[in-house]
Amino acid sequence: MSSALPEFPADFRWGVSTAAYQIEGAVTEDGRGRSVWDTFTHTPGHVRDGQTGDTACDHYHRWPEDIALLADLGVGGYRFSIAWPRIQPDGSGPANPKGLDFYDRLVDALLAAGVTPLPTLFHWDLPQALEDTGGWLNRDTAHRFAEYAAVTADRLSDRVPAWITLNEPFVHTVYGYALGIHAPGRTLMLDALPTAHHQLLGHGLAATALRDRGLEVMIANNLTPVHPAGDDPADVAAATAYDTLHNRLFTDPLLLGRYPDLAALGLPADPPYVHDGDLAAIAAPLDALGVNYYHPTRVAAADPGGGLPFTLPPIEGVPTTAFGWPVVPEGLDELLTGLRDRYGAALPPITITENGCSVADTVDGDGRVRDTARIDYLDGHLRALHRAMAAGVEVRGYFIWSLLDNFEWAEGYHQRFGLVHVDYATQRRTPKDSYHWLRAALGRRG
Ligand code: FCB
Repeated sequence: MSSALPEFPADFRWGVSTAAYQIEGAVTEDGRGRSVWDTFTHTPGHVRDGQTGDTACDHYHRWPEDIALLADLGVGGYRFSIAWPRIQPDGSGPANPKGLDFYDRLVDALLAAGVTPLPTLFHWDLPQALEDTGGWLNRDTAHRFAEYAAVTADRLSDRVPAWITLNEPFVHTVYGYALGIHAPGRTLMLDALPTAHHQLLGHGLAATALRDRGLEVMIANNLTPVHPAGDDPADVAAATAYDTLHNRLFTDPLLLGRYPDLAALGLPADPPYVHDGDLAAIAAPLDALGVNYYHPTRVAAADPGGGLPFTLPPIEGVPTTAFGWPVVPEGLDELLTGLRDRYGAALPPITITENGCSVADTVDGDGRVRDTARIDYLDGHLRALHRAMAAGVEVRGYFIWSLLDNFEWAEGYHQRFGLVHVDYATQRRTPKDSYHWLRAALGRRG
């Protein structure tokens, strides 16, 4: 492991990220409606060991302690998500005042602690009532999302300058609607693609509602550098198809106002669910592109009869996280310089909205959590980020996933991503070595 981190600009924004369903718990309190994740986790067979987010980190009650941890860490930014079913329990209509009150108090406490709030409006917890009318397969959900964005911003816009609309529409489309690994558990394969379009449309409509209120707008996309498994033209074609699905489908419409060529995925150039004017709405100006980076992806030609035009063999010869994800810090500078090369002047400034790793952390007898693997991961990725910035990519901030260990979707509580350890039986928080390492690094910057 290294010595000091390289120098970042004085106004660089350091932060940590969380999401509502992963930390809040209190799923029936203060008028919160049911979300697709409540339904999904309470259906046997979906989540490891049948775990749910019913209690999670109990952040809904313990937020003062969590904000104190943030303040002591010394980060200037906190990315959290707002639970749509707390604001509109059935996904439409007037806001539930108690739901807004919770985020209102959170925002005030963050500001009092010197931390800038960066809310995400949708981190996958769709109100179940909207799923019952088709969820993101239903175009109307895009309009409902813009309405929710407006009522939420009307309450918080005087104190919250910048907003993220969606988290990772790629992952929500593919895990939620194509493969059924996440809520709502649909297994539509490539027939899930209208949900991608409707999420992007919802983003665009919400972006306009936010901008009309004088607010800055971002979206957080999960992006990955794609490497063909070999020189075989079939592998190269498969890699192009995967890059289209994972990356370009979610950045070309936002930044260029058009969809990439979907022929490699066997899809029509002119899908019927894309209406006139949609692409102009989706390409509403972005103040920054949020990038969630975890690892690159290796792609090979499809197995015959497999249903998808690619397979994803493991990346060999690199360390892996507790989740089994490959650790490739150079993938981050490759990704960022690749975005700059692909989009040129159409690329807005970037904020890294998630980066981090899962480690099998335990609290030692002396009360310490020795997560050296996480320190190495973060150190390597910050060096990669610095290289990309030195190469001219404009990056304004870096948010670590995550402040706390939390409910990691289909993995339940089995993957620990936090800078702070959570003992779920007692809700005791223990800052890990990585927390102390980051705190010292930020402190040295003054
Ligand atoms: C991202 C999600 C986030 C968390 C991390 C590990 O895909 O946005 O909620 O689960 O992965």
